Amino acid sequence: MLIRSTPPFPIAPSEITPEAVHADRRQFLARLGLAGAGLALTGCGEAAPPAASAAPAAAELPALAVGQKRNFAGDETPSRYQDITEYNNYYEFGTDKSEPARNAGSLRTRPWTVMVDGECEAPGPLDLDALLKPHALEERIYRLRCVEAWSMVVPWVGFPLADLLKRFKPTSKAKFVQFFSLADEQQMPLIKRGVLPYPYREGLRIDEALHPLAFVAVGLYGRVLPNQNGAPIRVITPWKYGFKGAKSIVRIHFTERQPETTWNAIGASEYGFYGNVNPDVDHPRWSQASERRLGELRRRPTLMFNGYPEVAPLYAGMDLRRYY
Ligand code: MTE
Repeated sequence: MLIRSTPPFPIAPSEITPEAVHADRRQFLARLGLAGAGLALTGCGEAAPPAASAAPAAAELPALAVGQKRNFAGDETPSRYQDITEYNNYYEFGTDKSEPARNAGSLRTRPWTVMVDGECEAPGPLDLDALLKPHALEERIYRLRCVEAWSMVVPWVGFPLADLLKRFKPTSKAKFVQFFSLADEQQMPLIKRGVLPYPYREGLRIDEALHPLAFVAVGLYGRVLPNQNGAPIRVITPWKYGFKGAKSIVRIHFTERQPETTWNAIGASEYGFYGNVNPDVDHPRWSQASERRLGELRRRPTLMFNGYPEVAPLYAGMDLRRYY
């Protein structure tokens, strides 16, 4: 247990997730026999990654022209920029929370192409700037709850995912949409470790993807998204665990069948396809009833759908213990 009798304040980000959970997730990967997972387990024994270069500080990232600003996290204030950008899950750049900020400087976010394919009438490769051009940017402050039971509040900048997906004219067969992250050994030397099967893939039912809360993020705190947070473009579904939001997206695939998703493929009993935040359905190895918010000392109760009850109709009639 990490709470001390005289805790430092603010609590160090590295102490937010109980080490047992980190270790559990890594041991889980090692048990699966994924190449390199054993290496990931050694932690401090790892060699410094090649071609690593630190991501730029906030002031160095271009400011974005942001229109509407809305707080979807009630009266909660955003987490500190430093916490949001230095406590990351981005396994392509390392499995420790501090590694992505140190290593993701090698990611080149221009030129960037997103391939759109599958069940849609307007497929094709799209240059990122052409992809972004029609969309007015807005700020949305959302809670982010990781499956590891830590959370934060993030002022994302972007636009509704529905506005993007509708441009590709999904056909009536498009029941799901799958997102693929970049997997490039040149820019991401650590993916050779094979901690996860890459590219990182995630997916949503099409009605989830078209829900007004589903968001495409290209920035945070009014500036371009830092690489470690998924630049240049990522998906945010605030009522789901963070793993549902693929970073650095290079392909959008519309499909009739439920697509394979990374964490679900390696451990379906631990990471459901839906990944909805649900305090009543524990992870097999830890409770999901409460969470540790970055910057706070005490755990707080986890809210159903992460406090976004407006998504409940998407799951009407579904047994959420079975479809977790
Ligand atoms: N996307 C890719 N490509 N690789 C990853 O390792 N981690 C996921 C998700 N998207 C991940 C990813 C997980 S587990 C979480 S909690 C969030 O990104 C973390 O986002 P953040 O680092 O911006 O907080």
